[in-house]
Parts: sequence; structure tokens; C-alpha cells
Amino acid sequence: MGKEAGAAAESSSTVVLAVNGKRYEAAGVAPSTSLLEFLRTQTPVRGPKLGCGEGGCGACVVLISKYDPETDEVTEFSASSCLTLLHSVDRCSVTTSEGIGNTREGYHPVQQRLSGFHASQCGFCTPGMCMSIFSALVKADKKSDRPDPPAGFSKITSSEAEKAVSGNLCRCTGYRPIVDACKSFASDVDLEDLGLNCFWKKGDEPAEVSKLPGYNSGAICTFPEFLKSEIKSTLKQENDVPIAVSDDGWYHPKSMEELHRLFDSNWFDENSVKIVASNTGSGVYKDQDLYDKYIDIKGIPELSVINRSSEGIELGSVVSISKAIEVLSDGNLVFRKIADHLNKVASPFVRNTATIGGNIMMAQRLPFESDIATVLLAAGSTVTIQVASKRLSFTLEEFLQQPPCDYRTLLLSIFIPDWGSDDVTYETFRAAPRPLGNAVSYVNSAFLARTSGGHLIEDICLAFGAYGVDHAIRAKKVEDFLKGKSLSSFVILEAIQLLKDTVSPSEDTTHREYRISLAVSFLFNFLSSLANSSNAPSNIDTPTGSYTNGTTNRSTMDSPEKHLKVDSNDLPIRSRQEMVFSDEYKPVGKPIKKVGAEIQASGEAVYVDDILAPKDCLYGAFIYSTHPHAHVKSINFKSSLASQKVITVITAKDIPSGGENVGSTFLTVLGDEPLFADPIAEFAGQNIGVVIAETQKYANMAAKQAVVEYSTENLQPPILTIEDAIQRNSYFQIPPFLAPKPVGDYNKGMSEADHKILSAEVKLESQYYFYMETQAALAIPDEDNCITIYSSAQMPELTQSLIARCLGIPFHNVRVISRRVGGGFGGKAMKAAHTACACALAAFKLRRPVRMYLDRKTDMIMAGGRHPMKAKYSVGFKSDGKITALHLDLGINAGISADVSPIMPRAIIGALKKYNWGNLEFDTKVCKTNVSSKSAMRAPGDVQGSFIAEAIIEHVASVLALDTNTVRRKNLHDFESLQVFFGESAGEASTYSLVSMFDKLVLSPEYQHRAAMIEHFNSSNKWKKRGISCVPAIYEVSLRPTPGKVSIMNDGSIAVEVGGIEIGQGLWTKVKQMTAFGLGQMCPDGGECLLDKVRVIQADTLSLIQGGWTAGSTTSESSCEAVRQSCAVLVERLKPIKESLEAESNTVEWSALIAQASMASVNLSAQAYWTPDPSFTNYLNYGAGTSEVEVDILTGATTILRSDLVYDCGQSLNPAVDLGQIEGCFVQGIGFFTNEDYKTNSDGLVIHDGTWTYKIPTVDNIPKEFNVQMFNSARDKKRVLSSKASGEPPLLLASSVHCAMREAIRAARKEFSVSTGPANSAVTFQMDVPATMPVVKELCGLDVVERYLESVSAAGAGPNATKA
Ligand SMILES: Cc1cc2nc3c(=O)[nH]c(=O)nc-3n(C[C@H](O)[C@H](O)[C@H](O)COP(=O)(O)OP(=O)(O)OC[C@H]3O[C@@H](n4cnc5c(N)ncnc54)[C@H](O)[C@@H]3O)c2cc1C
Ligand code: FES
Ligand code: FES
Repeated sequence: MGKEAGAAAESSSTVVLAVNGKRYEAAGVAPSTSLLEFLRTQTPVRGPKLGCGEGGCGACVVLISKYDPETDEVTEFSASSCLTLLHSVDRCSVTTSEGIGNTREGYHPVQQRLSGFHASQCGFCTPGMCMSIFSALVKADKKSDRPDPPAGFSKITSSEAEKAVSGNLCRCTGYRPIVDACKSFASDVDLEDLGLNCFWKKGDEPAEVSKLPGYNSGAICTFPEFLKSEIKSTLKQENDVPIAVSDDGWYHPKSMEELHRLFDSNWFDENSVKIVASNTGSGVYKDQDLYDKYIDIKGIPELSVINRSSEGIELGSVVSISKAIEVLSDGNLVFRKIADHLNKVASPFVRNTATIGGNIMMAQRLPFESDIATVLLAAGSTVTIQVASKRLSFTLEEFLQQPPCDYRTLLLSIFIPDWGSDDVTYETFRAAPRPLGNAVSYVNSAFLARTSGGHLIEDICLAFGAYGVDHAIRAKKVEDFLKGKSLSSFVILEAIQLLKDTVSPSEDTTHREYRISLAVSFLFNFLSSLANSSNAPSNIDTPTGSYTNGTTNRSTMDSPEKHLKVDSNDLPIRSRQEMVFSDEYKPVGKPIKKVGAEIQASGEAVYVDDILAPKDCLYGAFIYSTHPHAHVKSINFKSSLASQKVITVITAKDIPSGGENVGSTFLTVLGDEPLFADPIAEFAGQNIGVVIAETQKYANMAAKQAVVEYSTENLQPPILTIEDAIQRNSYFQIPPFLAPKPVGDYNKGMSEADHKILSAEVKLESQYYFYMETQAALAIPDEDNCITIYSSAQMPELTQSLIARCLGIPFHNVRVISRRVGGGFGGKAMKAAHTACACALAAFKLRRPVRMYLDRKTDMIMAGGRHPMKAKYSVGFKSDGKITALHLDLGINAGISADVSPIMPRAIIGALKKYNWGNLEFDTKVCKTNVSSKSAMRAPGDVQGSFIAEAIIEHVASVLALDTNTVRRKNLHDFESLQVFFGESAGEASTYSLVSMFDKLVLSPEYQHRAAMIEHFNSSNKWKKRGISCVPAIYEVSLRPTPGKVSIMNDGSIAVEVGGIEIGQGLWTKVKQMTAFGLGQMCPDGGECLLDKVRVIQADTLSLIQGGWTAGSTTSESSCEAVRQSCAVLVERLKPIKESLEAESNTVEWSALIAQASMASVNLSAQAYWTPDPSFTNYLNYGAGTSEVEVDILTGATTILRSDLVYDCGQSLNPAVDLGQIEGCFVQGIGFFTNEDYKTNSDGLVIHDGTWTYKIPTVDNIPKEFNVQMFNSARDKKRVLSSKASGEPPLLLASSVHCAMREAIRAARKEFSVSTGPANSAVTFQMDVPATMPVVKELCGLDVVERYLESVSAAGAGPNATKA
């Protein structure tokens, strides 16, 4: 149990550490305890969050400081506390976000700047961001070779600042404001370039560092003096006492001898003992059971050696990757290139602890996609290992080829020879969804060549890894072939053919052909640049730099590196924001910072899992079915350490009589989803029971040990796909009131067409919410069959009703409390109820509090996510591009229960109607299948509908060989057709702003110039192509009844309750502004003074009823309107008091007014239930977005060079909040369209189930230039203070990235005459969603390199024509 303690002497098994300057002793703590677990359960610290538990998200980042008593030096580094074992930080100091600043002692400038740059939305990632930035500042400021920065700045450079958060995920903000906050510390940044903030009024006031919260490096003490003294005083004692056996299972040998004594002792059993260096490997290969004994090898001095000599560099195996980068960066070319590559391994906070040896051992023992093994293999490295008493040396190649080492084999060190620089070329490559790190590669490779006489290959080493092979290999046959050869297109082509026989991914590898083509691309890249770099100027037949598009001199190979001096991934991130501010309703309309941003940054904001565990709290974890359709016969547990921790398993049998097996619903009329599979599991991922244990880790681990017996006897095979469902007629009905309406007469429209496309198809896959906080609930049983549940729910009212139904108790027995949600995006609407019901049931049965906080994998498997769908279309059009008719057959995979699926057709068709199709008809099938039920995800249906429309428009344009924007423009609505398609939702003609926004983007001279530049770029670059595209969007939203309550306390402070939940969208901020505005006429300054007095409080279903949904983008405005109405009631009550006070004095201060009103017994609380005007329940939102991308034809990687969004926000209630919604939404959309592959196996079980395989955008993936203009369309008083929604519609604009990619790919296909698939041509093709790297590469042509080399060779005079 951790306790704050004095300087009492501890036993050898006691861990002593400082947390934010306070001393903690942890005695008898299980050795498998992570630092994160300790901090969150044994200390008051809550800043570090659990987002993934595998090193992939950064939510848990802390700063660890170590003190060396010999040198009296402190070293600091960031680390993921989820992977760091508590025992490994004995005698260390840990600083968390609370430690650098907090409510009581004042916030740190990092926290203040993150808040002031509007860089925190749901706030769940923010403490981790804070610590990554803080660590980067500490690191930079320690660089003694850098001059002191000007006051207020750090020594960090803006490029370092951009990379500081490269390993941290944020699902809300889109990263741009985070990067700006971070860059504000860099003295080389032009502060004017930073985005909207609270420190200066952009455009009106100069940007000056003095306006920023002041930064002083070293102001935070990261290592307390008491711990230094303690370490010094115990130093001698420890040196004398051999530390070997402790009684808590943690062993920390100080020498090889001690290690061997441990190996030889009785207790060593390799199945129950884990040998660790920094334990980050457990982020890659998760432990399946608990270990009760650990050996930490980092204390053995010879494993930490760093020896540099003229022969090379020797690195001890426990040298961290960061340290290795530091050492190698200071060497010659080969070392520096290795260091560059290592900088792309994992993320800064993983590299700081992860060891080189740990990586290589994983590569040796397991089929691990190591980068380090590959780059060191090509550099001719050797390793030294210790086997029993023997010390052996091998080349790395031999070592990797050996059978997996046993667990007693110790890697001592790695030696990298010094290759000098003369005649040696060394290059490394990797292709991964994130260019700069935190993503394992599809293929990595490293090549080293020694040439003589400028062009003859004397020696060459070609290493490839991660392509679906046990370990990195050398392509020996290719090497042998190349040795002694001069490079020519023939030679390279032959080398590539040989390589294709060598690089053979194992059968179960995904994207096999893609990976082979990557290996080919890398080798081609290397050899062609080698060939070109060795061209002597006198080689007049190979003019360097003048080769364009393969037309001038086919005998020269076009090196991928030519023409591209700067890698577009290295471009700095820039941005511009334009908006109109209005004072009309102030303080509504001001870009004030988000309510609670600072406490979110400091980590003091309380999420469900942060609530102090009540006494006797138990923890639950789901056991889910892995079978799509089977009877669940029994649940047992493997005999294991984890299964011993099971207290009980809650199943359907535990539902009390009178209760129902119900876990989720959208509208009861559409049907419920059961809480438990009973008796049949109907999809893989369905809940079949909840394991209950004493801690969350035990519950999670035990759930992994469950063995479920299934039987498929007498059951039909599962329906898994849209096709299966259509074949077996398995559909959900769409109630008539939810069905979309066709327009016109399709047949007539088709008869008017000059051209037709018949039955073309496009597909969109699913997307996972990836809220940073997974589903969470805490249930506390109360008296008289009542229960309180803290739930991370977007719909507490719905959650309350489901829990009551499940337990068979009246609704008023159930109190659901939701304060803030760490990201929802729709995933915590219906789906949060499931976890809350399970928790409530367990607590109700066991009469003890029960908490559940799902691990990321379980969450991903059970979540459901966005609806996958298939659209088949037939379209008729005129020769000028005007479309006359469209028919759409839509198949939507809804999964097992109805959820929101019956409203999907309406949403899809709604967004599709952004164009005037002339005549529109459709047939939509909502398929019921045996997969997890799909639910609403941000812009549900609309994003797919909008995309399908673009796919059709582009198809039409390519058939007619017209510019796509011309076809888009031709088919945009005029106001008349808008009314035909949208009816009353079209509103007033003056509010239809789409055409002007689209024209503003597309007709601008700048756009035309950029389009011309792109054409030029494409004609002069063979291996990279660019594309630009502009898409319009229309998004219909509905207003819903919403309650609000405003209560004024006697001291004048104000508590506000609203139906909506703060999920990061800034609801509380807008509500606060609206309260100040609503009561403002009672204040001399119009309400500004009230901003600080308003507190929006948590939602409580028994306090404010009819809370409704937080969904559909309109909750903020409707909550605001309910608050405004409540305020109006209060104003009426306060007016007479004010008037009588005014008779006595000129100005009446707010506090005096309230004191008087209170004395006069005025009712100071008012509640309103706002219902929208029945004649104005829906309105349309408009936006347009342009994106420009660069596609790397050799790898399929896409860089978004620039995005410009124009979004009509009406008269924004808070421009900073709306800007955050626009940017964040867009980046979430980028993920959907490009990278996020929510893959399932053939049973429908999600297999991309963690940060390792599911890649949401990071700061590496956002547009390099990201401009947003908030358009303020004509006022419309029917909307809430003329505002508009911003939470979902801008997501649709992300299809501009997909469309731009298609343009770039089209250029590639034209260049290489690629046509994939029978229905496709070079210019006409469909690209499904997501367009991941393999998809892009496939469309560009997997064999472009071979084609190119063949054409070059054929055009040459013979094998020697391309002499290099
Ligand atoms: C989020 C994340 C992203 C990553 N991305 C990449 C990537 O892109 N490319 C890449 O190459 N790697 C990547 N890694 C892997 C990372 O490099 C390794 O996890 C790390 O280097 C392992 O070092 P460690 O000290 O933590 O090893 P540990 O986890 O402590 O040990 C790993 C294994 O090696 C054994 N071991 C450790 N040291 C020795 C030794 N000296 N002798 C014998 N056995 C030993 C341990 O017993 C254990 O079995 C990533 C890891 C994470 C968590
Ligand atoms: S929780 Fe530690 S990195 Fe995600
Ligand atoms: S603010 Fe970053 S995840 Fe929500």
C-alpha cells in the first residue's frame, strides 16, 4: 500500500519514490504493478490517464527524474507510465501534470498556453500533452551548446516543438492548436503566425511574448532534495549489501554473477518469471497472465556500456533508444542515418526508456517487426551474448537466424562498425501510416553499398524486415548478383526480379503484394539514386536534373529523390484562421477559452475513472463472445495466476426477477439490444459475462483467461456481410416517418440524359470512435433498492431508463451522474448504457460498489462503430455535366440490433442531396447481420452520403473528361432546387451560402494558380504526384427540446444545469456565456462580470429531468436557449428589486442585487424546457473544403499539403469553440477517409483492436497548411441568436482529401498507363474508403517500378545504354 511517509528506513522490497515532490513508500506491491496503476490508485494523482495501456497514445506520460549521487546530476525524461513498472522507478522522482501546476499553486505556462490557444477539448489527452511538452522544454533547456533564449522563451526550436507531441494522440482538437501552444515557447517562431488565442487579438494587436504566460526554465524542481540526501546516505550501505532476493518478487541484480545466482536458484521458472529491461515490450506483446516474479536487468553495469572507438560503436543492451540516437547522431554518415531512422521508432516517451537490446531480443525470439534489427543488420553489426557462463559473439544476421533464444540467454551488447564515409552509401527506408513515428512499418529496409570508381558496386548489403517474416533478412541472392556490377536499368530490373523471389511474406500476412512492391520500391529508390549520384558530369548521356516525365532522355533513370529537395513531411505546420466577431450579444460571441481548460491540462478535471474508489469497490471486465452465432454452453477459466483473482462472474442469470436483459436501445419502438448473450451469442464481441475482481487489472487479466464453450448445433450459419443479408432477406424495417423521400421521376430523368453510367459501385468501411477515455461506469448501491451510477454517457436519461428496466426498479430509483466525457463522438450515446447497466447489475447483486473501465481492446471489440456500406449507382447526365437522374441501391451493414440504423438512410440521402440530381430515387436496405451493432458516429450517414455524391460526380467528370469542379458547380443547387430537395429545411433564400463559399474557394485566382502549379509538378515528377480538390457539403440538423436550470446563490455565484453533456464540444463554455448574456441586463457591464460567477454543473438525471440526447450537433445551442429562457424568468423576478435599488443609487452591483433579492425571498432558481418552434425544427449547414495532397507512388503514402475550409457558422456563439470543432472534426474525417482500418476477421471479430493496429491521425497526418474561414451568413433570428451548429458538419469536408488523392492517383495512372480491374481505366476508377497506403499504392500500380524500368530499358540502345 503506498503511503506518504517520513524518512523511515525501508525494507529491500519497499519502493521509495517522490511524486510531485512528496515522498511515497510502496511496500509489498505486486511487481507487475505499473507506475500508472500505482499513481492512480495509491496517490491522489489523476493527471496520467489510461488511454491504451500499450504505449501508443501518450495519455499516461509523466516525467521521470533520476539522480546520480556520484555526479550530483539529475536526468529527466518523459515515459509512458502504463508500461513503466513501479519497481523500476525506485529512488526516482516522478512529475505529473498536477506537479507542474494546479488550482492551488497556480498553473504552469504550458498549461496556461494550452488553455489559451484553445488546445483542450474533452481534455482527456491534455495532461499527457502537457507532460510531453514540458519534457521537451526541459530537454531543450538543458542543452548547454545553445545560447540562452530571449526572456519568456525556451531553447526549444519550433521544429522540435512540432515533434514534441508526435506520440500523443488527441481525438478532438486536430492538433493544430496544440502545436501552436507548443511552438509559442520557441524563440525562432514568428508569434504572429500562431493561431487564434486568448493572449492577443489576432490581427488587431501585436503578438508579443510578454503577453504570454511567462516561462522560466528550471522553475519546477523535478528532484526533491530529501530524496537526493536519502540516496546519498544509502549509497554506501547498498554497495556493501548484495541485493538479490526480495520478498515481493522483484529482483534487481547488480552484476552478472547475481543474475546467474538467480537463474540457478530454485524459484527460477521461465514461465512465471519475467526478465525485463524497460518493459515496453509489453506494449507490443501483451501479457496474457500475471507474473509474480520479475528480474530487472538494468542494474547490471556492463549492459549499459557505450564504447566509441575507431572500429565502431558498442552499445550495451540496456542503452535506451534515445541515448543511442544521441550517441549515433554524433558520428559519421552511417551512424547518423541509423540515428535518423531510430527517431521514427515508436515515440519520444517510449524511446526514452525502451532499450536497443529489448528490441533486438524481441526480434530474435518473436516475429516482431523491428526497425532496429533491420537497420543494424545492414550496417554489419555484431552482438555479444551470455549463455550460462559462456560469452559468445555473432553477427546480427547469425543471431537472428538462430532458433529463438531461451530466457536465460542475455544479450550483452551490440557493436556497429565504423564504415567511414568514403565510397560508402547507406540508406534506410520505412513505410508506415504515420511518417514520423508511432506506427510500425509495413516494410522496413536498410542498404549499405561500397562503390569504387564512382559506379562499380564492390560490396552491398540489403536488409529487409517487417514484411511478414520472422525477422529481418538479407537479400543475399540480390547482393551476390549486384556485386561487381555497374548499375543500369537492366541490372536494377534484374535485381528487382530476384528480390521478389526473396521477399516472400508469410501466408497470413495482410497486403502481401503491397509489401513486396514496397520492398521493390525501396531497392529501386536506393539503386537509382546510387546510379544517379555516381553519374560523372562528363556522362553527357545522363543529364542530371533535366529529366522530365520520361520524355527527354529515356536512358536516364528518374531517381525518386530528384526534384524533391525538401521532404513534404518535414514542412512546418502553418495555419490561418479568419472569422468575424460580433459584440451584439456579448459576452456571447467572444472567443473565450474553454471552461475548465486549465484543470483539464493540470489533470485535476475528474472523469469517471478518476473518482475516488468507494470503500469495498470491486471491478468488472467483460467476457465477450469470439463466435458470431453459437450457444454459450459454459464459461470456465484456465488455471492461472489471473484466474485465481476471480471473485464471481455476473451473467444474464443475475438479472433480478422483474428486470429485463436489456443493455442498449435507441428508440424502444425500433428494438433493444440485450445486455448479455443469452442463451445464444449472436455476434463476435457480444457480452456474455462480467468478471468481478478486486482490481481492474485482475478483472481484465482474468477475463483473458476465460474459456467459453460454444455449440453451433441447430443454428443457421451467421450472416456476416451485406451480401449474406440480402441473400437471406435479413433486414431492419425503416418506419415510414424515418424514410427519406425521392425527388422527381428517375425514368424521365434518365430519358433526358446524353450519357449513362449503370451499376457502378463504391464501398465504405467502418470507423471506430477512438474516444481517448474508453467506456466507464461506477455504480454505488444505495438504500431502498436505489442506485447511483457515474457514467461516461452522452445520454444519461436513456442510460437511467435502461438500468431501471434491467434491474426491474422504477426510474426514480436510478440516479445517473455524468460530469464530463473524455470524448464521445456518438460512441457513448447508446453504447455507454451497456457498461453502465453491467456495472449497475453487478453492484445491485453484490451490494458493493462496482467500477468498470474497459481496456482499449475490449472497447474496440464491443464498440460497433460507424456503419459500413455499399452503394451501387446508375446516373444519367448531359454532355455538359448536368446530371438528370440518379438511382442508388444502398446496402448498410447495421449489425445485430437496430440501434440508430433505421435513420441512416435518411441521413445518407440527406447529405447526398447537396447536389441537384434532377431526379432522385433509391432503394435502401438496412441489413441485420451477426456483427456488433453499428451506432451513431460523428456525422453518421451524412459523411457517407456526402462522399458517395462525390464519387458519382467524379465518375461523371472522368467519363466526360471534364474538370470535376466544373461538374460540381454545374450541379450545385440554386435556391429553387434546394427547396425541392430539402423542403422547409432550406429556410430563407438569403441563408443559402453554399454557392458563394464554393465559388470563393474554386474561382479564386490562387486556386487556379495552385491547380496550374500542380499540373507542372506532376509533369516534372515521376514518383510523386499531387492533386487538389474542392468539395461542398450540406448538413441538415434538427433542434430538440432541451431543459436548462439556472440557480443564483446568495453570494451571487450561479449554478447552471443543462440537459446536454460536456463531451469536449464546448457546451459548458457556450452555456456560461449565454447565462452571462441572459442575466446581463441586471449588471452594469452587460454581463461580462458574470462570466466568472457561472459554474455549469454535472448532469444528474434526478435533478434535471428530460435531459435528452447529446447528439446531432444542436445540443449546445438548444441548451443555451433553455438557459436563456431560464434567465429571462429570473430577470423578470429581479427587475423590480433592481429598479427599487436604482432609485437609491445609480449603479447596482450584481452582488448587492442578489443579496437584496435573497432578503426579499425572491425565487432565485428558474428552469425551462425549451422546445423548438414547430415551424423551424430543422435547418441546413453549409461548408466547402479544398485539399491539396502529394502521393508517393512508390509507397502509397499521402501528405496533405494544404487544406482550406470555409464553414458557415452563422453568428458564432463562441468562435474559438466552433473553430476547434471544425478543425477537430475535419481531422477525424481525415482518419476515416485515409488511415483508419477497423478490420475484423472472417467471424466479424474486430482484429484491429489497439493503437498498434488502428491508426487515428497524429500530428504527422494533419495538413501542413491548415486554413479555416468561418463564414457568417445572413442572420436568421429563428436560429439561436443566429448561430449554427459546428460539431459534425465539417467532418464531411474531409472527403476533399480523398478526392484530391484520387486526382493525384489519376495523374500517376495516366503516367504509367495503369488500369486496375475490368471496369476501370487509367482515369476512371473508384477508390473505396478508407484509402489506406496499400489501397493507394495498388491504384497507382503495384508494378510501376518494373514497368518503368522495362520501358527505360526498351528505349535504351542496350544493356549498357544507361551506364551510370
Ligand atoms: C508504442 C510502441 C511503438 C513501438 N514502435 C516500434 C517501431 O516502430 N519499430 C521498432 O522497431 N520497435 C518499436 N517498438 C518496440 C520497442 O522498440 C521495444 O518495445 C523496446 O525496444 C523494448 O525494449 P525494453 O527495454 O522495453 O524491453 P523489455 O520489454 O523489457 O523486454 C522485451 C523482451 O526482451 C527481453 N530482453 C530485454 N533485454 C534483454 C537482454 N539484454 N537480454 C535478453 N533478453 C532481453 C525481455 O525478457 C523481454 O522478453 C515500439 C514499442 C512501443 C511500446
Ligand atoms: S496509456 Fe500509456 S501510452 Fe496510452
Ligand atoms: S482534447 Fe484531446 S482527446 Fe479530447
